[in-house]
Amino acid sequence: MLERIEEIRGEASAAIAAAGSSAELEELRVRYLGRKAELTGVLRGIAELPPEERGEVGGAANRARKELEALLEQSAERLSASELEQQLVSDRIDVTLPGAPPRPVGHPHLIARTTRLIEDTMVGLGYHVAEGPEIEHDYYNFTALNHPPGHPARMLQDTFYVQSHPDVLLRTHTSPMQVRSMEAKPPPIFVVVPGKVYRRDSDATHSPMFHQVEGLAIGEGLTLADLQGTLLAMCRALFGAERELRLRPHFFPFTEPSVEVDVSCFQCGGSGELAGGERCNLCKGQGWIEILGAGMVDPNVLGFVEGHGYDAERVQGFAFGIGVERVAMLRHGVPDLRRFFDNDVRMLEQFG
Ligand code: PHE
Repeated sequence: MLERIEEIRGEASAAIAAAGSSAELEELRVRYLGRKAELTGVLRGIAELPPEERGEVGGAANRARKELEALLEQSAERLSASELEQQLVSDRIDVTLPGAPPRPVGHPHLIARTTRLIEDTMVGLGYHVAEGPEIEHDYYNFTALNHPPGHPARMLQDTFYVQSHPDVLLRTHTSPMQVRSMEAKPPPIFVVVPGKVYRRDSDATHSPMFHQVEGLAIGEGLTLADLQGTLLAMCRALFGAERELRLRPHFFPFTEPSVEVDVSCFQCGGSGELAGGERCNLCKGQGWIEILGAGMVDPNVLGFVEGHGYDAERVQGFAFGIGVERVAMLRHGVPDLRRFFDNDVRMLEQFG
């Protein structure tokens, strides 16, 4: 019996020393010290041995058991340290790699891009960019812009009013920023104002919300020729260097004289005819496309900002307002203005 104990001890300690993993070690613990292990059986059977053998066999079996337990513990420590080390090495990640899969990056909406293009062009001509409130006072939207009482734009069917505040409305154009800009800064002033505007209007070429860019230039000696030159530069940046402009008399309450501005058609080159001789569909055979409203700032408007350094006898200037959707539709051949606001990605993705 003592020999067998010694045999088990020798075999088990060699196996423990050779174990290569914690899992293997656990198997050895079960095999040599578990409930069904031979050594455990020996210890359990001590009581049945003849009394003279009990002391010696029991002592040897207990020593063997203690020794193996100690060896198992040592090996477990050694192995778990090296396993941790290995795991740290194999788990190492390269934090400089891109995420997988890389996320698609969005891009500005065509309306935002077109607005930027207009802004950039005007900044190149020395203008500042300013923004104003979309919820506006009747005073800035109409009164200070020389809209007489009873002007159709003031009517409920054209303008969204705030029910509880009859003098508050959603601005119908970016022009209120003409007056706000002049209140904020004495002349000379050169400013463009991009932003959303609201009218009670809805069809393929009108949306209740749309975008404009306002332009305002006030200084000494500015004339209609300056307006014309400025608009020509802007339209050539938007529609091509070959474009020409045509100014037609028009009426706006806050400009005098007022004009509507047409740009020569960039599809037919202004002839109204396409290569095959058929009528140009973009300008409907006219050779010209209406593109914006403008005019010389009415002295009455300057009268509202006289206290801010605007003396209508000394300074004058011009203003214009251009529709961003219209520019984008023309530049990119978009047939229906509502497509800009459907948020259909198949449409939006075409303008990355
Ligand atoms: N505010 C005018 C509109 O929305 C456009 C305009 C702006 C006309 C500035 C003249 C001068 O129709």
